[in-house]
Amino acid sequence: MADPKPRAAPKPRPNILAISAYVPGKSKLDAGAAARAIKLSANEGALGASPRAIAAYRTAAEDIWRYPDGASSELRAAIGVRFALAPERIVCGCGSGDVLHLLAQAYAGPGDEVIHTAHGFLLYPIAARAADAVPVVAAERAHTASIDEILARVSPRTKIVFLANPNNPTGTYVPAAELARLRAGLPDDILLVIDAAYCEYARAKDYSAGHELVEAGGNTVVSRTFSKFFGLAGLRLGWVHCPPAIADVLNRIRGPFNVALPTQLAAVAALEDREFQDAVRANNDKVLPWISAELSALGLDVTPSQANFILLNFPAGAAPGAKAANAHLDARGIIVRAVGAYGLPDSLRITIGTEAEMRAVRDAFAEFMR
Ligand SMILES: Cc1ncc(COP(=O)(O)O)c(C=O)c1O
Repeated sequence: MADPKPRAAPKPRPNILAISAYVPGKSKLDAGAAARAIKLSANEGALGASPRAIAAYRTAAEDIWRYPDGASSELRAAIGVRFALAPERIVCGCGSGDVLHLLAQAYAGPGDEVIHTAHGFLLYPIAARAADAVPVVAAERAHTASIDEILARVSPRTKIVFLANPNNPTGTYVPAAELARLRAGLPDDILLVIDAAYCEYARAKDYSAGHELVEAGGNTVVSRTFSKFFGLAGLRLGWVHCPPAIADVLNRIRGPFNVALPTQLAAVAALEDREFQDAVRANNDKVLPWISAELSALGLDVTPSQANFILLNFPAGAAPGAKAANAHLDARGIIVRAVGAYGLPDSLRITIGTEAEMRAVRDAFAEFMR
């Protein structure tokens, strides 16, 4: 018998349907392209995962019938040791995207305003809207967050400022003194969320992830991830360093077992594997400046990056431009990220891979520019 036609259906809150769902970078090639792909579209680690993390993950397989430690105690202790932070000020989540959502849910509500920068990470407006708050865009200058523009957008309704530093997809950063000026210029009751997903790659002497601002007051948090530098994107682990009162709030609303058991064990092993971390850093330190210089020498415009990716900019509306370059790379088995959704239709974002992968990128662009 056919189902009776439903007369009414559950309706989400109206702002939910205003959200454009996050579309991740492509992970597969278009049909007919080269068989082996070089995936440079999601800013994953260039060297895969730490062998010690992989071994810990395998060992954890025996215990997956048990719930994990709901407090992620050993993991938070290991993060605390590695980064000289108090474990009770750390809250873990299913990727740092998860903790960004939790922060928006807890600190913004209907009609409140949440500021993010023009080419900031796409999750910020999604998290704001999911909390029924209103995303407010602060203009950038030369693909870089402007503290003055952010402060100019503050209103009595502002509840949160999200700032990625270094930023995705531009790779640019705001120096520590400017971060401190932002905090000082914001009213005390506005939560500043510094998203430091790429901080391990930053090399600028005046860069800081911002943990000192967390320690200095009750209104700043720094979020971090294991998805990039630590090479554990598939395990979904992020964390946030908070003042005690904010950690307390997040612990009330997070899922009770929000970090899987193999994830906790693999992450502790990854934190202890300093040799692997040194190799990841050395690779980025070598390959990022190399590919930036090589592509610039081909006449391409590369935004200077402090992260594990570069933004490549074509003149506005140029033909052949970003779209043609993307198709050219795709046909050679190289997957990069189109960033039109970030308001950058004439740019491509390319993750830093191994030396061999980036040589393939350079050769493909040399051909494209001929
Ligand atoms: C700036 C920034 N923040 C947060 C994330 C979320 O990462 P994850 O949820 O994997 O920790 C990303 C991922 O691309 C990012 O680029």
